[in-house]
Amino acid sequence: MTTSKGFTRPIVLALCLLAAVMGSSITQAKTFRVAVGDGAGGTQHELGLKFAEELKARTGGKDDAKLFLNGQLGSEEDTVSNAAMGTLDFSILAINNVTPFSPSVGILTMPYMIQSLDDAVTLTQSDIGKTLIDNTVRDAGVRIIGWAYSGFRVLTNSKKPVKTVEDLAGLQIRVPKNEIMIDTYRAWGINPTPMAWSETFTGLQLKVVDGQDNPYLTVNAMKFDEVQKYVTNLRYLFSIEPLIVSESMFQEQSPQMQQIILDAGKAATLHSAKWLVEQEDRIKQELVTKGMEISDPANGEKEWIDLAVSKVWPKYYEQLGGKEQVNVVLKALGRETI
Ligand code: MLT
Repeated sequence: MTTSKGFTRPIVLALCLLAAVMGSSITQAKTFRVAVGDGAGGTQHELGLKFAEELKARTGGKDDAKLFLNGQLGSEEDTVSNAAMGTLDFSILAINNVTPFSPSVGILTMPYMIQSLDDAVTLTQSDIGKTLIDNTVRDAGVRIIGWAYSGFRVLTNSKKPVKTVEDLAGLQIRVPKNEIMIDTYRAWGINPTPMAWSETFTGLQLKVVDGQDNPYLTVNAMKFDEVQKYVTNLRYLFSIEPLIVSESMFQEQSPQMQQIILDAGKAATLHSAKWLVEQEDRIKQELVTKGMEISDPANGEKEWIDLAVSKVWPKYYEQLGGKEQVNVVLKALGRETI
């Protein structure tokens, strides 16, 4: 049978099918937007690159993820709100900037709680990590689907070597807008300056603040060596940086696509832990070559630890779900309970 335009019916059916397939692939192929707080070459960037690679491979090249580095899509705090509202797909940011939206995540920023990469992996990959993910979905409207492990946050400043708590006197230190971190510096005797991450380089450059703390890999990725000279090897916070997805966007995906997103996040997480171990010493040496001077805290950091733990921990038991919950975490880490 022939149609009015002269096509036979099988040809018309084949054309319709082709149009449908083309149409669906055009509408469904997607480039997701991923906000990244840090610059190129840090753990956030590496996690994002691996995630994008895995996502592309697992969708047979159909979907992709584009990274926007250096806070181009807003401050780290803004990216949480934007993802919650569904106007941003993904963000990679420091956990300390998620805590204000989901207080129980604060367990990961309690000073001296996480004492090694193994501790960080144990907490994020265990049932404790699963509970934190559920809490973040509930409280903040974002889902953590991957973790970058970035190493201990070392203190940097432009003025003088710092070894003791007393050496902090007279220094204006920038901290994230995170109550636990603000209280930690207060326990050490100074009033720090809360400032968004996206403003920190300029703050250091213009000497609005003298110092800040972040891992070696972040210091390097942000080129802080250009505006900071002295480093103190503090170990009070092991930096963990989640990859979050907008929960509303995640729920709009098919079950298959949700699984692809989760699997890509998991592969990127495994890669991140390996990458940190491979890179951290090299980057530290590179910063020394560029002129940074590194000191260790005096007396094995004892005074820093004692003040932070005795003054900060008790203040946050309630927010973290009670002392019992803190003990669950300490037990999982093989440490003495309180
Ligand atoms: C902060 O200090 O606000 C964060 O740790 C920065 C980051 O995302 O690397």
